[in-house]
Amino acid sequence: MLIDTHCHLDDYNEEELKIVLEHMENHVMIVSGVNDATNQRVFELCHKYDNIYGTVGIHPEEVDSMQTDSFLQMEKMLQDDKIVAVGEIGLDYHYTKENMEKQKEVFIKQIELAHKYQKAVVIHSRDAIQDTYDILCKYKDSNIPFVLHAYSGSVEMAKQFIDLGVVLGIGGVLTFKNAEKLKEVVATYSLSHFVLETDSPYLTPEPYRGTKNEPYHTLLVAEKIAEIKKVLVEQVIEETSRNAIQTFSLPIDLQSIEERKM
Ligand code: NI
Repeated sequence: MLIDTHCHLDDYNEEELKIVLEHMENHVMIVSGVNDATNQRVFELCHKYDNIYGTVGIHPEEVDSMQTDSFLQMEKMLQDDKIVAVGEIGLDYHYTKENMEKQKEVFIKQIELAHKYQKAVVIHSRDAIQDTYDILCKYKDSNIPFVLHAYSGSVEMAKQFIDLGVVLGIGGVLTFKNAEKLKEVVATYSLSHFVLETDSPYLTPEPYRGTKNEPYHTLLVAEKIAEIKKVLVEQVIEETSRNAIQTFSLPIDLQSIEERKM
């Protein structure tokens, strides 16, 4: 059983969504919100489909447009069993650094929310890896799981996060020709530190680059990891699914992850 630990399903039209969900019939998706509207949509999807879980959060690129009651809405949803994490939240200095203090403040407030409701945290970090790390260090003993989504840093940085207990989300970028750094990360550390993700509809893996990504493409990521680590793809799927179940406290029987058909 595949678990796509990070995808966005709000960008598909009805017809596309139907196909995407058919492909994932025997698998599990964790859908991430980035603002009030998508958080609401995540909540609806979770309650419509058994195999969908959700995370709600205010993405760093959305901090300037967030509403005064955004956190209140999130708090309501975080009391629901199908909302398994706060995310995606974090820091993004790619387009602007001007609001970095605000980004940090909103990021920290949301980590506190995760702590209050004992949920995991799904982190987005772009051009801000050191600040992200510094903030996470303060929550080292908080006992809540952290996932660094779409990890793209160095091998050394990966070690620092792993030492903090952070799980790394590995996605389609791994299949790109120029992803040498990420391949090295995957080769260096054990499967116990990774979960699979797609970030659908973005970051489509090879050989489908240029088309819309979909959660089932986690299989391509698993195959690439298997190739790099010289292990069976079944082992990659089983171990990463187990990591996802534990990280997000998913109510899925560990035994069933081996039994479900691809
Ligand atoms: Ni995302």
